[in-house]
Parts: sequence; structure tokens; C-alpha cells
Amino acid sequence: MTAPFTPADHLADVLARYESSPDPRLAELTTAAIRHLHAFVTEVGLTREEWFAIIEGLTRTGQISDGQRQEFILASDTLGVSMLVEMINHLAEPGTTEPTVFGPFHVDGAPKRAMGDSIVVDAPSPEGAGELVTFSGTVRNLDGEPVDGAELDVWETAANGLYDVQDTDQSAMNMRGRFTTGPDGRYAFVGVRPVAYSIPGDGPAGELLFANGRHNWRPGHVHLVVSAPSYQTLITHLFDADSDYLDSDAVFGVRPSLITDMSDGTCHFDIVLQPS
Ligand code: BEZ
Ligand code: FE
Repeated sequence: MTAPFTPADHLADVLARYESSPDPRLAELTTAAIRHLHAFVTEVGLTREEWFAIIEGLTRTGQISDGQRQEFILASDTLGVSMLVEMINHLAEPGTTEPTVFGPFHVDGAPKRAMGDSIVVDAPSPEGAGELVTFSGTVRNLDGEPVDGAELDVWETAANGLYDVQDTDQSAMNMRGRFTTGPDGRYAFVGVRPVAYSIPGDGPAGELLFANGRHNWRPGHVHLVVSAPSYQTLITHLFDADSDYLDSDAVFGVRPSLITDMSDGTCHFDIVLQPS
């Protein structure tokens, strides 16, 4: 009598047909994904109903996504995958500034502003005024030398917790700007004190968060992308030390080294870049 075909035999059969892919990296990615997916199904004893529920959720994740809304990125963020990809691709050498998630609200081509200028374009509304904060510091290398010509691309929400691209009442490029350091490596710009805000919770990524008893809030932060010739581009945030949700960020982006005091209307933070 022939022995029954087991899940292990089935896995070996599936893998064998992908291992000879003409693209070795694609073969590596595909076969690893298959191995982990099969292990997941076996480990949890996945029922047919549960598998169809997952497929239905993924289908809606695609359907709700468009040019403005990217639900797969949100799912990747809230499952901790985006942060893991940043971590393994930017192994911060001791002494360099830690990276964190990029998020979906960066806009290319933010206005270049003079050092020290404000990124606040719209006059603050009376009810959501928002305190101003001057952010400043020096961009240095690991030897402590200032980095000349480093570009800081910064963005944050307005005091109402919304980015310009989420809010038709804001001017385009409100709370965004690019600043370039001189030979002293110094940077400075004026923004508002960051507020905690909720990421979109009305799609499948939000449903999964809430069904697991999680919330969809992020602690108050300012985004920075710092790039300079001969250095690795740094994607990071500065978090307000007084903010709520520092210990439960919906997207796992908080690093203690990025938490700074902003309570007196200033935020001082030196940035250390890693050579490329
Ligand atoms: C953000 O900080 O802009 C962000 C990051 C991940 C998901 C949603 C928003
Ligand atoms: Fe953000």
C-alpha cells in the first residue's frame, strides 16, 4: 500500500517547481514565502472559513487602495513589517541616529526654505492654534565633524492632526519644507508642536487592529529624511517626550533615542549620519 501524501510531501512538491526559477533572488523570495505560508497554515490548523476570510480581507485591502490611500502599506506598518524592513536595511552603527518608518504622507518636491524659516504656511485656526516649536541641531558624521550640504526634508501634521494631503482646508505644502546645511552642519526650522493623531482606521488594516484590541494612534512626531553625498539616507522622526501613545504607537516606530523634550518651544536634536 502506498503511504499517504503528507503536508511535508506536498510542500516538497510545491517547492521543487519554484526552485528552478531563472531568477535566483525571485526563487529565494518565492520559496521562502511558500515555506512560511505552509508552516503558518499547519501551525494554526487554518480552517477553510478562516482562509476565505483572509482572502476577503486582502481583496478589500486592494479595493480600498488608490493614488491617495495605500491600505497594504498601512497593514505592513501595523503588523510591524515596515519597521523591520527599515531596521534590517539600515543597521544603525552605534552612535548614528536611529531610523524609523517612512509612512505614506511624504510628498516629493516640498519647497526649499532658508535655514531657520517656518514650515507653517496656513495661519493657525483659533481653535487649533498649536504652539510653535523651533527645531534645531547639527548634522554630523561619526567623527563628530559637521556635514555640509545635507538636505533635511521635513513634514508634520497641522495642529488638527491632519497632513495637508488629508485635509482640503489646508494649503498644499503646509507643514513641509526642505533645508540644506552649510559648512557648520547646523539646521533650524520652525514648526508646530506635534500632536498625536490617528492613522486611517476605516479599512481592513484598522479592522484587524481593533479586532485585536489595539488602537490606531501615533504619538506626536515630526518626520525627517536627511540625505547627503557619501552618507546613507536617514529616514527618521523626532517624538515629543510629553506625547501620549509613546509606548503603544500603532506602527511600532518609537525609539527611545528619538524622544525629545519640546515643552519650552524648542527642540534640540543632533543628527549623526552613517557613511554609505
Ligand atoms: C506617519 O507617521 O505619517 C504614518 C506612518 C505609518 C502609517 C501611517 C502614518
Ligand atoms: Fe506621521
